[in-house]
Amino acid sequence: MKPNRFLSNYVGEEVSSYLYKEEDFAEFKRFDMGESAFPFTPKVFDEIKKFNESDMHDYPDPCLFELKKKIAEIFKVKPEMVTTGAGSDEIIELIPRLLLNEGDKALAIIPTFFRFLDSVARMNCEITMIHTKEAESFAINDNIIEKIIREANDDGVKLIWLCNPNNPTGVMMSLEQIKQVLDKTDCFVVVDEALHEFIDPTFKSSAVKLIDGRKNLLVLRSLSKAYGLAGIRFGFGIGDEETISFFEKFRLPYNSSTLSQKVALAVLKDHEHLKRTVQKTSEIKSELIKELKTISGIHIASETMTNTILLKHKDKDLFSDLHKRKVLVADFRNANGLEGRGYVRIIVRDKDMNDFLVKELRDICS
Ligand SMILES: Cc1ncc(COP(=O)(O)O)c(C=O)c1O
Repeated sequence: MKPNRFLSNYVGEEVSSYLYKEEDFAEFKRFDMGESAFPFTPKVFDEIKKFNESDMHDYPDPCLFELKKKIAEIFKVKPEMVTTGAGSDEIIELIPRLLLNEGDKALAIIPTFFRFLDSVARMNCEITMIHTKEAESFAINDNIIEKIIREANDDGVKLIWLCNPNNPTGVMMSLEQIKQVLDKTDCFVVVDEALHEFIDPTFKSSAVKLIDGRKNLLVLRSLSKAYGLAGIRFGFGIGDEETISFFEKFRLPYNSSTLSQKVALAVLKDHEHLKRTVQKTSEIKSELIKELKTISGIHIASETMTNTILLKHKDKDLFSDLHKRKVLVADFRNANGLEGRGYVRIIVRDKDMNDFLVKELRDICS
């Protein structure tokens, strides 16, 4: 079959090809995905026990009243400022579909989360890439912000993706930098904060603060990362009421199941659990990084603020060497902006798993 004109140039399968090979993942120790190292709050099981027949028989609440009220309370906004998705990924897919016409461009800081590029490619639109530098630890500094503003104003760019903190590098942008982009361009700006709880479980430094009547800002959050609920598929976006009513009109009405709504509400209510998870993740990550730094030839790309670490070896192919030992890490050897440099991304897991990875890396690099 042939795809339609929007998908004619789409190369999605190449982007994440290693996920589609016929390998038995059960044989692998996995460090490739982005889940939390720690379990979600046990209160989720109390909620699941209350599940009754109508919760499965009837359609879910398409307006997500209770859940939006809770999200609004956390972020100190109105419930009308919240839209939802089956994971924030669904909203990432929807944004270019709603906002880009043929010939429009989107802009992203590279390297970044591949789905920003993917969702734009599915609309047959181009991406303007602003490359951060390896020699500067992929920092998003004021030079990068200036470049974004210049390119966005010169280039017919309609959409800007900002990932804060960024995946895979884990580096941060300041609210002041994001504000500059908002103030100095007319583009629609998406600030993806899927990993933001790892830097601030209090929500105080979220870009939601910058909405303040702006119609061109959407802040995305996810329950898949620090909350530990990747399997539930729930994410949300916060923006001005007018912006959100537009997104709500076009999202699928029943994109969140009753199960995901109830479970999401339970985790959002247990703020103490989130704070503990973030604290434990930070401690275990510091230990892991300390160990990694003692392995000869390993280079850690950036000062990561999240649960992911981007690294390479000065001359070894870490992806292949680990793969041979049945250890799967995320393959960034040919990711945009990192081509040919041998990078892989690992996820912080529990102590035993981290120790195992360090041991394998020591063996490979000895
Ligand atoms: C930066 C970033 N944004 C969004 C997502 C999508 O998350 P989900 O669809 O699980 O909410 C991910 C997942 O890896 C991510 O790393």
